[in-house]
Amino acid sequence: MLAVSCSVSGRFPHDGYTDLVGRQDELARLAAVLGESRLVTIVGPGGVGKTRVALAVAAQTAAGYRDGPWIVELSGLRDPALLPNTVAGVLGLPEQDARSALAALLEYLRERELLLILDTCEHVLDACASLAQAVLAVAPRVTVLATSRQQLDASGEHIFPVGPLPVPEAESPAPALAGLEAGGDAVELFALRAAAAVPDFAVTTENVADVIRLCRRLDGIPLAIELAAMPLRTLPLAELVERLDHRFALLSTGRPGALPRHKTLRTAIEWSYELCSATERRLWARLSVFAGRFSLDAAEEVCAEVSVERPDVVNALIGLVDKSVVLHEGGQYRMLDTLREFGAERLKSSGEEDSCRSRHIARYRAMAEYFGAHFADADQMNRYRELREVHANLRAAMEYALEPADGPLDAAAGAELACSLYGYWQISCLLGEGTYWLTKVLDRFTAAGPERARALVNRGFLRSFQGNVDDTLADCEAGTAMALAIGDEAIAARGFQHMMLTLTFLGRHDEAAKVSEEARSRLRACGDVAGELMLLAQLGHLHQLAGRPAESVAVCEEGLALLGPGSGEQWVTTYLHVVSGFALFQMPGREADCDAALRRALHGKEELGDVIGIAYALDVLGWLAAKTGSPARTAWLLGAADPLWERGGSVRFSATAIMEDFHQQAAATAREALGDAEYDARYAAGTSYVRRRLDAHVGGGPLRLEIPESR
Ligand SMILES: Nc1ncnc2c1ncn2[C@@H]1O[C@H](COP(=O)(O)OP(=O)(O)O)[C@@H](O)[C@H]1O
Ligand SMILES: [Mg+2]
Repeated sequence: MLAVSCSVSGRFPHDGYTDLVGRQDELARLAAVLGESRLVTIVGPGGVGKTRVALAVAAQTAAGYRDGPWIVELSGLRDPALLPNTVAGVLGLPEQDARSALAALLEYLRERELLLILDTCEHVLDACASLAQAVLAVAPRVTVLATSRQQLDASGEHIFPVGPLPVPEAESPAPALAGLEAGGDAVELFALRAAAAVPDFAVTTENVADVIRLCRRLDGIPLAIELAAMPLRTLPLAELVERLDHRFALLSTGRPGALPRHKTLRTAIEWSYELCSATERRLWARLSVFAGRFSLDAAEEVCAEVSVERPDVVNALIGLVDKSVVLHEGGQYRMLDTLREFGAERLKSSGEEDSCRSRHIARYRAMAEYFGAHFADADQMNRYRELREVHANLRAAMEYALEPADGPLDAAAGAELACSLYGYWQISCLLGEGTYWLTKVLDRFTAAGPERARALVNRGFLRSFQGNVDDTLADCEAGTAMALAIGDEAIAARGFQHMMLTLTFLGRHDEAAKVSEEARSRLRACGDVAGELMLLAQLGHLHQLAGRPAESVAVCEEGLALLGPGSGEQWVTTYLHVVSGFALFQMPGREADCDAALRRALHGKEELGDVIGIAYALDVLGWLAAKTGSPARTAWLLGAADPLWERGGSVRFSATAIMEDFHQQAAATAREALGDAEYDARYAAGTSYVRRRLDAHVGGGPLRLEIPESR
């Protein structure tokens, strides 16, 4: 796993503002409730402060959970089927085995003691309810805290309602000001946000009555108050209050509090919308197509067209940030869910939805296409990280393209996205999710054609790494046959390449060797260098499994030469080193070369944060230690590899028998040399060291290990 998923807030998310006004009573009660109930849902209308309270209680009670609080931000998630994947992604679990993301997640949580916060559940209620229930059933020391406009309706759920901030009763200035000293209410929040908008703003005897009136009008709803404070940049307070009063008077009997809360917020949002320029309004609507965070460049590309040009987008975006409609954090932008929904409604009624979504799809399709076509280029890691940052938007683009209820917008673009991301699914260990999208493509394209052929071939490829070899071979064969029948050479070449790998995993070495030749000449003919490089790594693996280590080393060297010296490519390079290490292990007198290859592999896999790749390298370094007379080191290394294999579903070496034999031999040799007690102690030391490193490995990213130089 590398980098943090963009639908992820991780442990301590950033926010536009990080202050907390009031809520002390709520926090104390919530902490008490969390001590008693293992499923608590903070319920309240949009913008009332549910997320803020959840984050505050997480920070406050963090020390009480051995494995900490974890926050999964769900507002960018649209497809409920991907909920387990999203949670697993936040926790940094690879999807590298045949288990479903849910099974892997439950397995992981079983032994943990943590607070799992599911923030913003209302649009995926059922999925959250069943996930929470499943977690409670298997993980006795996990507590789930959800925030939602509606309760989950799960059994054992404790509902914790959160209402607006209190508004002082006082009508006359003096007691109101005295109350303000105490703070913790809507007036304090308004005062803070107003001072951020107009630096010399202060609540005084002169204006306090107006401020209270405004807060009461807005019913103490924090988001409404934040939105209402921003126009102070251009409107004096008295006028602002008057306009707002007028706005509400049109809707209600004129009495504050006469409207239900969601209508109050809605009115505040509409008012804020009306104070926007025409371009800002259009941008507000258009930005709603983004899921999660987005960059300035993305906003320009997706939201600009002939009538709103790029510079207009920039200016309008600045305007929306000034008005607190868009939050600017860490160089990225995002909208609170309530405001994004409002924008989405406007976009729909403007008739611009399809054109805007098409530009959104086009942007992410272009990124994916480039990555797919240049997979093994030197800039691989930078491109990969860019994709990882926009994961929620990749999902959204595929979803819009493939499956809105009223017909897919551009199924071909969806297919291109899901297929071009083959290397992305692989590096990020999102094999389960990649398979999920490719299956959606296959559901869309049921007749023979390039989309179907390519999706089959790619799905076979991903499945082969998940240990699902039978389905894999069926996919590869069907896709390749279809590509040949329609005369698509490029897809057929990849089809043979992937088929070769599956045959290797199945132990059908002779067939694999034949298919490999076919694949190689076809990849060459198509000029598919990335395909050829992957094939060389596969071929190296085949040779060493088939007892031809010298050929294996030669093929790996060929691959490294093809990549060129100092290539920034990481994925294929690290595999070539791993495979070369396996082969050198089997060659007498090449121990030092074996060690060097494996260390290089290990270093690259650590950089990638690829836990399974690291496990491969550590395990084989352990065999090498047994061979060179360092049994204590063997025990430590095999122990260190163990929790990494466990993360991937506890299947070592994709269940390849030959590799497992080497592993068992090394373990037996070391155990004999050390005796059971010493072996077990060393093994346990390796395991606990890596377990600690993994626990600190929040949400993915590089994972660096230090191997003691013991004998
Ligand atoms: N107690 C508070 N102190 C400071 N700001 C708050 C408070 N409660 C809410 N806010 C702000 O109000 C806005 C809406 O709050 P949020 O927690 O996102 O609401 P919800 O999750 O209920 O939709 C956010 O910008 C948040 O920062
Ligand atoms: Mg929220």
